[in-house]
Amino acid sequence: MFNNRIKIKELLQQEPAGQEVTVMGWVRTFRNNQFVALNDGSTNQHLQVVLALGQFPESLLSRITTSASLRVTGKVVASLGKGQKIDLQAVTVDILGDSDAEKYPLQPKKHSLEFLREKAHLRFRTNTFAAVFRVRHALSFAVHQFFHQKGFLYLHTPIITASDAEGAGEMFRVTSLQLDGTAPRTEDGQINFKEDFFGRSTHLTVSGQLEGELGATAFGEIYTFGPTFRAENSNTARHLAEFWMIEPEMAFYDLEDNMNLAEEFIGYIIRYAMEHCADDLQFLDQRLADEEKQLPQDKRSELGLLEKLRFVTENKFERLTYTEAIDILRESNYNKKKKFQYEITGWGMDLQSEHERYLVEKHFKKPVILYNYPAAIKAFYMRQNDDGKTVAAMDILAPGIGEIVGGSQREERLENLQQKMAAMGIGEEELWWYLDTRRFGTVPHAGFGLGFERMVQFVTGMSNIRDVIAFPRTPGSAEF
Ligand code: 4AD
Ligand code: MG
Repeated sequence: MFNNRIKIKELLQQEPAGQEVTVMGWVRTFRNNQFVALNDGSTNQHLQVVLALGQFPESLLSRITTSASLRVTGKVVASLGKGQKIDLQAVTVDILGDSDAEKYPLQPKKHSLEFLREKAHLRFRTNTFAAVFRVRHALSFAVHQFFHQKGFLYLHTPIITASDAEGAGEMFRVTSLQLDGTAPRTEDGQINFKEDFFGRSTHLTVSGQLEGELGATAFGEIYTFGPTFRAENSNTARHLAEFWMIEPEMAFYDLEDNMNLAEEFIGYIIRYAMEHCADDLQFLDQRLADEEKQLPQDKRSELGLLEKLRFVTENKFERLTYTEAIDILRESNYNKKKKFQYEITGWGMDLQSEHERYLVEKHFKKPVILYNYPAAIKAFYMRQNDDGKTVAAMDILAPGIGEIVGGSQREERLENLQQKMAAMGIGEEELWWYLDTRRFGTVPHAGFGLGFERMVQFVTGMSNIRDVIAFPRTPGSAEF
């Protein structure tokens, strides 16, 4: 057996009593030919390994370089140094893997996030990314725990699909046809997808919602948590071409039930991370504070990261209708002084992220749930309100992020849904299975989608979404 190690996180909880342990990890720094800062990814804290002078040959010492991997067996003793309780007094040191210090891309100094994005295969070995990805892990776990405890069923919806759930047409095609001009054609010269792998035209899913509704109308409450894909050409700090979404879908819920669940869910997973990742969040809080010191006063956040998280879990979200939001925006000084890039043209306009951020960051200074949007700017499946103009949609907007959740009560009335689909040019033959849920025992139901990376951004304070997913896919970029 090779692996008899103790993880550094666990070791650092122990009292130093001369006990013998074995640790394995990667060298962060090596000072004075004596002190190794060893990290094994279990915690942001490094273990100080002490190599007594004269006890180890130069041929070994010269191989202890940044990012070399080591196995060390030694005695746990009280540290004489500052900042740590224990040291590991090395007895045997094995080099598991050498690392050429000249060629290793990450120097033991601060690198920019942009630089590290190009070294995404190694960036987990930095303190910032290690903290972000441990928090991401905790948040994923909390998602499952939250829904599992509530009795929701985890439904795996397909990644390859023939329907465009959002009707926005921003999909990546999936095909096994050749792109060299030899693909079979129909009589009128179009590519004949009947001859394609699935016998029809298929894409990567933009959302598991429609299949989620099939689950909810049998199990009552389900959730999905999987990758979704959007071919929107948005090069922003909040958009990915491949992102993870959590989509709960609940029978016997109206819009208000939906908002209540979303708010409870967000509070729960944030609290979970605060409880289980206290060290990492402390580190990220400090990182953000340092970063913001470089900014002009008016660009800095009013609250630190931990203060913000605490604030969000302790205060109710502000709820208001789209119509009320338009009134606030129209009357705002920002609008009157023409500070918005996109003018507030009036009721019916789609809100831009600058408008959403104004409401959240300047006006209410807390997360906001906007609901009852104009039907014309929302998807076909949202339930029509009695006013004939709006649908029972809701978006949750978070400070620093903008839209983090999109959801709605669904149109459960067959005729209304059919009319809406016809008006939007969505063929019934394509979604016959979806319409069947409205034909056989239809029920009021609702659901929402939380963009997981945006949530991770919110909790870690990372300003670019590319820094909270391991290997980001964005326009022009699919390295690693
Ligand atoms: O608002 P969206 O498009 O809603 C849906 O897909 C619904 N089917 C959800 C539902 O009701 N079940 O997307 C939901 C969330 C957004 O609020 C945002 O947080 C995130 O997904 N999102 C993205 N995140 C990263 N990159 C992108 N390109 C994203 N597009 C949406
Ligand atoms: Mg949306």
